Amino acid sequence: MSKQYPLNVPAPHHFTYAVRDLPEVTVEQRERALQATHYNEFAFPSGMLTVDMLSDSGTTAMTNHQWASLFLGDEAYGRNTGYYVLLDTFRDIFERGGEKNWKKIIDLVRTDCRDVEKMMDEVYLCEYEGGLFNGGAAQMERPNAFIIQQGRAAESVLMEIVRNILAKRHPGKKFTIPSNGHFDTTEGNIKQMGSIPRNLYNKTLLWEVPEGGRYEKNPFKGNMDIEKLEQLITSVGPENVPLIFTCITNNPVCGQAVSMGNLKEINRVAHKYNIPLVFDTARWAENAYFIKMNEEGYADKSIAEIATEMFSYCDAFTMSAKKDGHANMGGMLAFRDKGLFWKNFSDFNEDGTVKTDVGVLLKVKQISCYGNDSYGGMSGRDIMALAVGLYESCDFNYMNERVAQCNYLAEGFYDAGVKGVVLPAGGHAVYINMDEFFDGKRGHDTFAGEGFSLELIRRYGIRVSELGDYSMEYDLKTPEQQAEVCNVVRFAIDRSRLTKEHLDYVIAAVKALYEDRENIPNMRIVWGHNLPMRHFHAFLEPYPNEEK
Ligand code: F0G
Repeated sequence: MSKQYPLNVPAPHHFTYAVRDLPEVTVEQRERALQATHYNEFAFPSGMLTVDMLSDSGTTAMTNHQWASLFLGDEAYGRNTGYYVLLDTFRDIFERGGEKNWKKIIDLVRTDCRDVEKMMDEVYLCEYEGGLFNGGAAQMERPNAFIIQQGRAAESVLMEIVRNILAKRHPGKKFTIPSNGHFDTTEGNIKQMGSIPRNLYNKTLLWEVPEGGRYEKNPFKGNMDIEKLEQLITSVGPENVPLIFTCITNNPVCGQAVSMGNLKEINRVAHKYNIPLVFDTARWAENAYFIKMNEEGYADKSIAEIATEMFSYCDAFTMSAKKDGHANMGGMLAFRDKGLFWKNFSDFNEDGTVKTDVGVLLKVKQISCYGNDSYGGMSGRDIMALAVGLYESCDFNYMNERVAQCNYLAEGFYDAGVKGVVLPAGGHAVYINMDEFFDGKRGHDTFAGEGFSLELIRRYGIRVSELGDYSMEYDLKTPEQQAEVCNVVRFAIDRSRLTKEHLDYVIAAVKALYEDRENIPNMRIVWGHNLPMRHFHAFLEPYPNEEK
């Protein structure tokens, strides 16, 4: 054993060497910009912000290896080299059971391998089948992996094809699609296919505040409530549940982790009723980290080993690859070769041969909307940066620092006396329950959480996202769906961009705003109330709290 000289602070694992300065902006200037952009926070100019925590999506600071990989991008229209690299990166991490089995064909590209036979055998003409990423001729015969530039596009390709198949088989029927928590775009896509989204998690557990603000072990508040899931399936009938979704980590439920035990159980229930299980895996690496640190039996496993087990439980997945520190752009849709998703949504002849392969339908949609299957809406350089980013997300030290930043912010709010902080912190963000923040005094129609977000911009130049009554469309939902809304705002932390100084500024600002919460205005929607995913386009107007 090497000699140790322990300290009570962690050793840093990266440093920054590109710097972007921030402008000095006055409250009056921000006020003018808020008015000019109809109080829609998505339209507020980022160049006028001091700290932007709207999203961790696509906002990551890339590593030097990712920047370097851009120069290896192959922009060919057909079978660019990055296509092979990206699919095999996914196989390495999601299917090969850990680093010891990685093939890392990306290194052949990075070292400019000129051995054509080797490149043919190990990269260009390799055959794979039976998993989530067919390769070679199998991918052409039974397409099952689709590069798509971001998560919502993957969702919309999937939903549109599923909707068309179901409409043909059962005209006029309405379906229910449950999840532990659908993201806003997933919900939007499900509604647009005429189906009903449901969010089945345990809200009592979510709002529980631990002794002194700290849990000893993460309680996996993002889990699907298995009892609710079985109840829902049996009450609406399994034939009316075409898919079950599971969001990992559970972003709409405060970025909370989902345990491996829960994934296994969801898989068991889904398969008991012959329903394909689809993972929404925007933040799979953070989730694997939480499993490693908190679930029995995983402490000695690597993030990649855990990821392989996680993905063994899904029949299909959609992925926004813009989170988890992967890259600024990217996404994926895949299903298991000849698995339950394929069986349920393909059509077969009487002799068992395939009449219509659902993979071919998905590919047609991919090609007609996003580009051919070699790049699906991504540039060759983005594909390379994503492959590098995926490997980097398996680095324990990176994830450890990332989650520690979230904890620092959540505990900072808690220690400053701010009420409603959701504990423990999520893997990519900290959430505050607005009902509790406002002492339960503001009604669901006041959109006070949005008032909080806009006031944080106005006073301090900090942008966060409201993911509660306003964005999750509380007033447009049925009573049972309303009970599933978490009325929260989210402070997203992206990869290696924010420092302790940013977090301390945010803690001080939220403390000050909390102490003056009586004067945070409510908001009313003046245009776009019923538009799908209205928060991206609606116009708002503040009105003083006293008016209520
Ligand atoms: N699923 C989840 C869980 C997400 O968090 C997101 C995006 C998507 C799907 C859609 O992916 O943006 O690549 O099209 N979430 C971002 C956020 C926007 O801020 O949480 P996308």
